[in-house]
Amino acid sequence: MSTLYERDAAVLAGIEKLRFFPLEVVSGQGSTLTTPDGRQLLDLSATWTASGLGHGHPAIVEAVTRAVRAAPGAGGLSAVHPDSVGLAEDLLALVPGDGERRVYLGHAGSDANDVALRACRHAGARRTVLSFEHSYHGGVGVAMGVSGVHVDAGVAADPDSVFLPYPNPFRPGHSGIEQDVVDCLELAERYLAGGSIACFIVEPILSDGGLVVPPDGFLRRIHELCRAHGVPMICDEVKMGLGRPGTLHAFEHDGVVPEIVTFGKVLGGGLPLSAAVGPAEILDAPPASALLTTAGNPVCTAVGRAVLDTIVTEQLADRAAKTGTLLQDSLRALAGSPGADRIGDIRGRGLAIGLELVDSATGAPDPRLAAQVVYRAWELGAVVYYVGGNVLEITPPLILTDAEAVRAAEILGAAIADAAAGKVDDEEVAKYAGW
Ligand SMILES: Cc1ncc(COP(=O)(O)O)c(C=O)c1O
Repeated sequence: MSTLYERDAAVLAGIEKLRFFPLEVVSGQGSTLTTPDGRQLLDLSATWTASGLGHGHPAIVEAVTRAVRAAPGAGGLSAVHPDSVGLAEDLLALVPGDGERRVYLGHAGSDANDVALRACRHAGARRTVLSFEHSYHGGVGVAMGVSGVHVDAGVAADPDSVFLPYPNPFRPGHSGIEQDVVDCLELAERYLAGGSIACFIVEPILSDGGLVVPPDGFLRRIHELCRAHGVPMICDEVKMGLGRPGTLHAFEHDGVVPEIVTFGKVLGGGLPLSAAVGPAEILDAPPASALLTTAGNPVCTAVGRAVLDTIVTEQLADRAAKTGTLLQDSLRALAGSPGADRIGDIRGRGLAIGLELVDSATGAPDPRLAAQVVYRAWELGAVVYYVGGNVLEITPPLILTDAEAVRAAEILGAAIADAAAGKVDDEEVAKYAGW
């Protein structure tokens, strides 16, 4: 009899797969995933952060159950519902900003960014979008065309896009990270002054591009330039926002108030839900230009409200800061153990942690080792993926316990040691292409 994984291979489209090992799951609870044969796996990805409250959180279960029982139908397109209006009100209360603002509700980070980008082009009657190399903003439309990760993978860039280098403190240019920042800001200034820039879309921490934490103040300086030239900044908080970095919003770290903020992933607690929050003058026009029939539906918006409420009342941002410190410390404590010389860098904020795997002799990125390590971690009982070629992206649920954080470091340490010692079968790993 074929396995679930083999049945999937026979029926589901390859274009929507990003696979690292043959992960099969039938259920989850908290930070644990359960496989069909009853194996329990520690979830260190949280479905790329979408399951940020963990699996089966009671607040989400309650919200879904209530909403499904009373659900009047589809979305907020042509009718209003207390949960869609309520979610927009909740978001406006939680996202700083001035003046009259609106909330777009969508299904995924991709459409929230796409809509925000298109609205900026329309509002300013300018087309060029400034973005960053190796950034990721979505898998559709303009959001895809301005995503450096897609461009790296051979997808045509949006014809009206410009990609700037994202300063990487671990891999600075020849003149050092300070100079990289200066060069990037100079480039940004030149484009912003040219008068053709519709908006600047920024990840506060580069995620799929390699979990790169920019130098302190970088986001603020970019935003100052945007403001000086009257160009809206879209801060893409889809993966890093809502508690994960140890603050409610990642942009808070730099004291920035972006014109537009986009959300997704954890906002829906695993269900499809996203949002863009920004000025009415940008998000109100042109009317009926971003229509998804089931956007703002009563079930997803009920969950969104429950997620926001849980993050705030359970103080999950503070908790992420504390557990993240413990997890980073536990990973650093691997120093000196077998294979630890292959760890080039451990970085992050809160529960957004990147662990860079390198060739110990040269310090060069080691993508082969990263593929082997995530495979071995799965064999040893943890789910973690890599980004940017060679960086483990460690983004567990925000409810991760201290004991789970310590266990996570143990499993990752063992996986790195085993992979470094050549115990992982390359042929097996090669079946799962990854990025
Ligand atoms: C920063 C960022 N923006 C946008 C997206 C797109 O979100 P979605 O896959 O939910 O469409 C992602 C997804 O990984 C992301 O990491």
